Amino acid sequence: MILAPSILAADKADLPGAFKLAKRIGAKYLHIDIMDGKFVPNTTWDESLMDIVNPNTDLVKDVHIMVEKPWEWGSRFAKKGADIVTFHLEAVEDFRQGLETIAAIEKDGAEAGISIKPNTAVEEVFPYLPLVKLVLVMSVEPGKGGQKFIPESLEKIKTLRHHIDANGYNCLIEVDGGINGETGKMCLEAGADILVAGSYLYGHEDIKERAKALLGK
Ligand code: DX5
Ligand code: ZN
Repeated sequence: MILAPSILAADKADLPGAFKLAKRIGAKYLHIDIMDGKFVPNTTWDESLMDIVNPNTDLVKDVHIMVEKPWEWGSRFAKKGADIVTFHLEAVEDFRQGLETIAAIEKDGAEAGISIKPNTAVEEVFPYLPLVKLVLVMSVEPGKGGQKFIPESLEKIKTLRHHIDANGYNCLIEVDGGINGETGKMCLEAGADILVAGSYLYGHEDIKERAKALLGK
């Protein structure tokens, strides 16, 4: 299991400190949420954030782009050293545009991931599974941290686990939104490989214990 702390919930005034903390609690990925104020109402960072990320961490840079025109954003983040760029299926018009987005991300050396919102049927992502590093199941509406886990996400994870294993695909399942000690365990039991957690981790004195709960220790 891979833990991916979301820096959306971290102290923005000390991002290097947040990266170090992620490493110290056993994270392998650093989850970076990018919002453009269009695909979702809020805005976070652009690719210049990578100038702070790159020199301050050796964790896998797991960039989740909640944006319109993901091929443009994806290419810019790949150029800036993102390891994984995950875009939204809902942000592309059709499969062809999805393939173009994957190509734009991979062209500059990043791996591509694809994400689905809570109301998107899991079957819609099936054609992409042989082509991507990971599939990100949003277990809240994308756009902000601190929301409540949507339990129907568990069925999606189970369906994906079964479909990926049955076909022998090399695709990881990541879950994002409302993850805590309890929901995290349920996601792992359903077949998830990567847990994103923001507000459950950052800002708490007992962050180490909380991370252990997610890691099953
Ligand atoms: C929401 C973001 C999440 C967010 C999760 O749109 O994609 O990564 O940081 O926050 P929590 O863990 O607080 O639900
Ligand atoms: Zn995210």
